[in-house]
Amino acid sequence: MKLNHFLFLCIGLIQFSSTTLTAQDNKTLLLKNVDTKWWKEAVVYQIYPRSFKDSDGDGVGDLKGIISKLDYIKSLGIDAVWLNPIYASPNDDNGYDVSDYRAIMKDFGTMEDFDLMLKEMHKRGIKLIMDLVVNHSSDEHEWFKQSRSSRDNKYRDYYHWWPAEKGKPPYRWSFFDVNSDAWKYDAQTNSYYLHYFSQKQPDLNWENPKVREDIYDMMRWWLDKGIDGFRMDAFQFASKDTTWPELPKGYEKNIIKYYGVGPHLHDYLQEMNKEVFSKYDIMTVAEGAGSSPQDAMLFVDPARKELNMAYHFESVDIGKHLSDFGLIKYKAIFSRYDKEFKDKGWLAIFLANHDQPRMVSKFGNDSPEFRTISSKMLSTFLMTMRGTPYYYYGDELGMDNIRFNNINDYHDLDTRNKYIALKNKGGDLEAFLEGEKQTARENGRTPFQWDAKKNAGFTTGTPWLKVNPNYTTVNADQQEKDPNSTLNYFRKLVQLRKKNPTLVYGKFELIDENNPAIFAYTRELNGEKLLIVLNFTSKNASVKTGINIKGAKVLMNNYTTPSKSKELRPYEAVIYQL
Ligand code: GLC
Repeated sequence: MKLNHFLFLCIGLIQFSSTTLTAQDNKTLLLKNVDTKWWKEAVVYQIYPRSFKDSDGDGVGDLKGIISKLDYIKSLGIDAVWLNPIYASPNDDNGYDVSDYRAIMKDFGTMEDFDLMLKEMHKRGIKLIMDLVVNHSSDEHEWFKQSRSSRDNKYRDYYHWWPAEKGKPPYRWSFFDVNSDAWKYDAQTNSYYLHYFSQKQPDLNWENPKVREDIYDMMRWWLDKGIDGFRMDAFQFASKDTTWPELPKGYEKNIIKYYGVGPHLHDYLQEMNKEVFSKYDIMTVAEGAGSSPQDAMLFVDPARKELNMAYHFESVDIGKHLSDFGLIKYKAIFSRYDKEFKDKGWLAIFLANHDQPRMVSKFGNDSPEFRTISSKMLSTFLMTMRGTPYYYYGDELGMDNIRFNNINDYHDLDTRNKYIALKNKGGDLEAFLEGEKQTARENGRTPFQWDAKKNAGFTTGTPWLKVNPNYTTVNADQQEKDPNSTLNYFRKLVQLRKKNPTLVYGKFELIDENNPAIFAYTRELNGEKLLIVLNFTSKNASVKTGINIKGAKVLMNNYTTPSKSKELRPYEAVIYQL
């Protein structure tokens, strides 16, 4: 090697190491005095296993299917997968009715498949969060079979029973019951049992210490296998006032307030933390946390030692479409929560999950003209808000609502039971079906669209739920090849969030709060400030930020062509570094 080549090489190496050091130093500086946690920095990807990938042609997604797609999942850059329930279940509510907490549902495979999946996830640096469904079990769980068999069975008090000789129990409303009645009469012991959800989902009696011990034991069993956390399904309903007071008329319209945080709920969470969570480095998230930011804080205030984070429903309980609800009101929800959470506690951020219609259909615009651009805008929102983003499978492709015309296309007990109830009352079934096109849960449960081949490459058999017919144009295979696809845009966003601690930990401040078209905010951390502007409409719109963006660096823009005006284009999203 000639001397000048050698010198160039040395200078190059010095430059290289000094720039990496600078980036590293910069990150360290930004994170000064910040309470960092891996689960705050994580991007969570939710997989609905029934619909992700079928490996054996029975039309139902399974664990082997997930294993076969782990490289795809890894390629998204996400850190953790939240998997909907995969435990043994008769599937009254697609796995949310567990008949054995320590076994895998036959449709999904075996425990060996599970162990392999977990190993392969960890090999790729992906953590696994399991759904924990312990407000209720299935009526086919051994505990319930025993419990209902006689009044003096040792499992009797594992559930809530009301002896019929005391008359009818005080009315309790049920989410999934055709008659909206949460007490079901059981002739075997001439008693009623409680089910907040379907008749096949009896509520466990958390007041019974034996129930709690058995459940903690089961949780440790999974954690000892190496899983990385739990999403606590409907757990806010676990504690009941077992004096069974009469509730005010029409209370079901405000159900979270009455069912949400029972008298001993926080005692149970603190006990669970002591007995289970505190022994592991895991992530725990509550589905629902009362009905106000103050309620939510009680679940996640680190000093109280309960859960790591919670997601609240206010940001999704907005009716059929965000445009009806109004962006100004919507923004106010986030400001209200942020006010409570700015110094401590942590929230999850999400726009969709398996109980919701598709993100782009509810918050964006799924017409062919705007589906891609508005999906990208919504992804930008999720990745730039304060809180841990939960991203629902298929949203990275811009998958949208399927909008079934016929009740027979639906499998979900939620839609089907509401339909039967309405039919019994002689209600307007056509209007109901029209509404479900926007709100039904199964809009968001259709099979993942892998490619343009038969059944979107999801299964070689007959899919359990119809595939969205737009799979021929909306699919992963086609988007892999397009550098500007929603899929590749999502990947870039994930990387951007990873590189920028400001996007994770930075203070949130809403700007131009009365702007009905644009959601704009800054994120600021130890001297670094980012500005995010998002047009939530299909029209050009302008924003008054009061911030001089001249010279600001554009870190991300969902349009690839430069703007000709100062206005934001339809669904435009820009992230500036100020
Ligand atoms: C939760 C789940 C939902 C389920 C219900 C009953 O809300 O997310 O899918 O139906 O609990 O378990």
